[in-house]
Amino acid sequence: MTAEPTEERVTHWDRIILPDIRNFHTIDVYLANGGYKALKKALEMKPEDVTDQVKKSNLRGRGGACFPTGLKWTFMPKQTTKPKYLCVNGDESEPGTFKDREIFERNPHLLIEGIVIACYAMGITTAYLYIRGEYGKWVRMVEKALMDAYTNGFVGQNICGSGFSTNIYVHKGAGAYICGEESALMNSLEGQRGYPRVKPPFPAQNGVWGCPTTINNVETLANVPVIIDKGWEWYSKVGAAKHPGPILVGVSGHVNRPGVYEMPTGEPLLEIIYRYAGGIPGDKAIKAVIPGGSSTMILRGDQLEGIRMDAESLKAAGSSVGTAGMIVMDEDTDLIKVITRISKFYYHESCGQCTPCREGTGWLWKILKRFETGQARKTDVDLLMEIANNIEGNTICALGDAAAWPVQSMIRRFRDEFEKRVVAEVETAVA
Ligand SMILES: Cc1cc2nc3c(=O)[nH]c(=O)nc-3n(C[C@H](O)[C@H](O)[C@H](O)COP(=O)(O)O)c2cc1C
Repeated sequence: MTAEPTEERVTHWDRIILPDIRNFHTIDVYLANGGYKALKKALEMKPEDVTDQVKKSNLRGRGGACFPTGLKWTFMPKQTTKPKYLCVNGDESEPGTFKDREIFERNPHLLIEGIVIACYAMGITTAYLYIRGEYGKWVRMVEKALMDAYTNGFVGQNICGSGFSTNIYVHKGAGAYICGEESALMNSLEGQRGYPRVKPPFPAQNGVWGCPTTINNVETLANVPVIIDKGWEWYSKVGAAKHPGPILVGVSGHVNRPGVYEMPTGEPLLEIIYRYAGGIPGDKAIKAVIPGGSSTMILRGDQLEGIRMDAESLKAAGSSVGTAGMIVMDEDTDLIKVITRISKFYYHESCGQCTPCREGTGWLWKILKRFETGQARKTDVDLLMEIANNIEGNTICALGDAAAWPVQSMIRRFRDEFEKRVVAEVETAVA
């Protein structure tokens, strides 16, 4: 059951996901500040009560789709002879997104604690932590933390003397964005090509190695100890009522203080830009903002008033939270160059399995190059839109949508930028 949001909201607290405490990544400092307390508490509860807490908290996934986490956990079969698995998604390869990296670096034990609690709740004895290949340094940091957690009895056999056992394996990706898509991630883990799978069957029925599997984002799981420790009532009152909790927002682009900021969900985008990230260099105007990583729909800088960093607000504004990776662009930005570069990324990262994505992403990029180099025709604007519309919703996974949305939204909100770059029509009529 989902808890009814109450009116009373929590808007301030000491940072939890990225606390401002020196050496918090070490197990000694983590333990000295109440680390693994939530795990001990969870292990004294019934597994279904742990899931119930997460469900009532209204925690929604931080991996892009904002899916309710507790609900996802209930999809795992209770009676099964097969082993069950947890895949922790740390692939983090979307342009503009770099928040899970902060957790790996500054609070890896919170993640490990969240993973073990999730495993306990769902009766899972093996978790895979899939980290993007380029994050070599962070893989090593997480592995060190994991070793310390094993040594101290928080992972492995008979955790904290509870009789519950689970193992965590770190798996390094090989640098493919598509392997962040949950079913491609599972194929990749199995040693196969990172092709997304057709759904159904869904992972909870037929996941990694053909067994029931839950896939959760790193930040999602880092929120779980907080819910157990402080209780679902407190958590559900943090930030936006329908999408509560602390959220890590990565701000990049034309801001004075780029970085990852922990805040309650529902902060106004303008507050994030000016208060957290220190405003725009040279006090220039904001031309555009991509609110949640490169796949989310672009917003006009002059229409940001009232838009907040939560699922409902951004949906109403015609975009989405995605992974809360905000890319801010000032008044001098060449948006054609921006969209051409984004499209090149999706063309390069398309796995090639579905024709609309394999062919369409390349066509988008080629036509956008024409705008960039001053060779586009007037009809190319509609052609771009038509191609994007034919990719959207017509592929096995959402990479196709991720390629289409930035182009569609750029045309809808900045059509004049395209029209300005069209070559003067060649006079074909004979005088
Ligand atoms: C092309 C593509 C790439 C993705 N990359 C990631 C990623 O790097 N990390 C992530 O957590 N989710 C990623 N996702 C979303 C996952 O498929 C999945 O929804 C998510 O891991 C679920 O976790 P959550 O419910 O905790 O949000 C990606 C999806 C697509 C379509």
